[in-house]
Amino acid sequence: MRRILVTSALPYANGPIHLGHMLEYIQTDIWVRFQQSRGNQCTYVCADDAHGTAIMLRAQKDGITAEEQIARVQADHEKDFGEFLIKFDNFSSTHSEENRELSAGIYNKLKENGHINVRGIKQLFDPEKEMFLADRYVKGDCPKCKTPDQYGDNCENCGATYNASELINPVSVMSGATPIEKESEHYFFKLPEFQKFLQDWTRSGTLQKEVANKLAEWVDNDLKEWDISRDAPYFGFEIPDAPGKYFYVWLDAPIGYMASFKQLCDRTDGLEFDDYWQAGSDAEVYHFIGKDIINFHALFWPAMLHSAGYRTPTAVWAHGYVTVNGAKMSKSRGTFIKARTYLDHFQPEYLRYYYAAKLNNRIDDFDLNLEDFAQRVNSDLVGKVINIASRCAGFVKKAGGTLAAELPDQNLLDDAINKGDVIAQYYEDREYGKAIREIIALADAANEYIHEKEPWALAKQEGKEAEVLAICSLGINLFRQLMTYLAPVLPAMTDNVTAFLNIPDLNWDSRTTVLLNHDINKFKALMNRVEKDKLDAMVEKEKADAEADSASLAAPTGAASLSEPIADEIEFDDFAKVDLRIAKIVDAQHVKGAGKLLQLTLDVGEGKTRNVLSGIKAAYSPEDLIGKHTVMVANLKPRKMKFGISEGMVLAAGPGGDELWLLEPHEGAKPGMRVM
Ligand code: MSP
Ligand code: ZN
Repeated sequence: MRRILVTSALPYANGPIHLGHMLEYIQTDIWVRFQQSRGNQCTYVCADDAHGTAIMLRAQKDGITAEEQIARVQADHEKDFGEFLIKFDNFSSTHSEENRELSAGIYNKLKENGHINVRGIKQLFDPEKEMFLADRYVKGDCPKCKTPDQYGDNCENCGATYNASELINPVSVMSGATPIEKESEHYFFKLPEFQKFLQDWTRSGTLQKEVANKLAEWVDNDLKEWDISRDAPYFGFEIPDAPGKYFYVWLDAPIGYMASFKQLCDRTDGLEFDDYWQAGSDAEVYHFIGKDIINFHALFWPAMLHSAGYRTPTAVWAHGYVTVNGAKMSKSRGTFIKARTYLDHFQPEYLRYYYAAKLNNRIDDFDLNLEDFAQRVNSDLVGKVINIASRCAGFVKKAGGTLAAELPDQNLLDDAINKGDVIAQYYEDREYGKAIREIIALADAANEYIHEKEPWALAKQEGKEAEVLAICSLGINLFRQLMTYLAPVLPAMTDNVTAFLNIPDLNWDSRTTVLLNHDINKFKALMNRVEKDKLDAMVEKEKADAEADSASLAAPTGAASLSEPIADEIEFDDFAKVDLRIAKIVDAQHVKGAGKLLQLTLDVGEGKTRNVLSGIKAAYSPEDLIGKHTVMVANLKPRKMKFGISEGMVLAAGPGGDELWLLEPHEGAKPGMRVM
């Protein structure tokens, strides 16, 4: 029996799970269930990746603590994964005590071994927010082509890459302030000292060939020290001997794999952390990841483990990126499909099957074509696999519900049983698409047999009862073989099938026993066809969500609910930056195609008007607004939205949706008057 520990990458705790993520968790879960079906001890752990600037800022924006933020997201993530039948043995968070201890322990080892370097570096600093700015928090004009509004690492227009400090007219995305250069001490992991180790490790079969080749360029030439510290304010773990310095999120994220496993070990008899992680362990450790995070898993991570005296992973397996209908997932096209939205429309096993049917063990991108999705599921699963059972079950039931004592065509069954070895190898090699092709070929053979024998015709003739029962008993046995092979992909259907067949499970080895003289239960429909109009409904829902998102940006505060905590104190000067004015709504119109927006024309005094798009459609009809006075933010930077440019925003209170109330001044206030 092999002892195997498997992980999927830890999803960031600042957003929902989408169908791109799901490729990875489904790929991993199938592999884990397959190993378990083979009788191996296979453990699957994961966690939310809870640290970093993005999560800290997201929490600030929502007016909650980072801890509250990550707890909320984790609850959603766990719910989504659960409903997709992803069977983690433990799902934790990188913000855990176990992870804090392991991270500190590993860091201390690296330091003892002389693998940590401390030196000052210059970085852009936001003097208002009082924080250092990562590249994507700075914008400015491209130093090459001068295109304005480019991020601090590269230019979308000319493709140039540069440092944020080279931007012309740099601006902090966070405050709008002009950043200054400031020096601070950073902690570095001395990756170049691991060149020889990595040259061997990356070429020793731990990586896919294409990945190893890609990395070779770096490993042979260009390893740089890795910056593992960030200055406060940062949401993460403070570096043990360096107050005010925090581990960069990517230092403690992979250690989160170990920490999640440790949590599991602590509550499980017979599962020992050291058995899996000490140097020289013969347990197997596999990381499933996406191709975007290879460097972290195939360079920094093994080098860190090696230095700290732990074992390194047996292998790191990368997959490609999901596209939908041949293009990058897009919010506005409605193809950025959240796990939740999918689950509100379809059962999880359709997607599990489709992903399995198209997966291979390479890093090519993966197209989720929605037409093809419906077609594959309907024709393979419903039309072929389930069809076998539904054609045969009734005749067995009519004959008393007991399968025949002998089967008419043992060859057909032997074929199906023997194919199990090839199919197992395909699963083992993560060539699920090839496994599914074999399985569906067996289903075709079974259907052909039944079609030829026409038990429905025989059943109408006298004295053929035994023959009909024998044919259908073979059909049921073939169906059971297929379901054994599909069980890792279709766990819920597997439960229904074991109930129908009256057997304890569908483990890989059990396939060699044949069901003879065996009572089966009543057949219930196992799966319905994918309804195409529901696909459209799902995409439409995502489009509406995307529109609501962009509307909420333009909406009056909206989010603030009664329980919303009061935001941090500010200076009067901060408040005075907001130029609030009385405005008169002289016109209000629906916006074609926008579900949440109204277009307001505001009289702001001195004969000037402003065009404002506001997400208040659910709360107001246009005619109720015309002629009313309200309060607007007059110096908000004009915002380009899908439906036009919005020049400011109007103020309203309430949780949002149809519960939203515009502010209205007492009588006498005139358009253009400043509100203070
Ligand atoms: N938090 C890091 C991983 C830390 S692991 C120690 C991270 N998180 S993520 O939420 O951005 O992504 C989680 C996993 O989902 C990654 O393996 C990533 O490659 C994968 N995918 C995210 N979007 C994807 C697609 N569109 N398609 C396929 N996989 C995708 O990275
Ligand atoms: Zn440029």
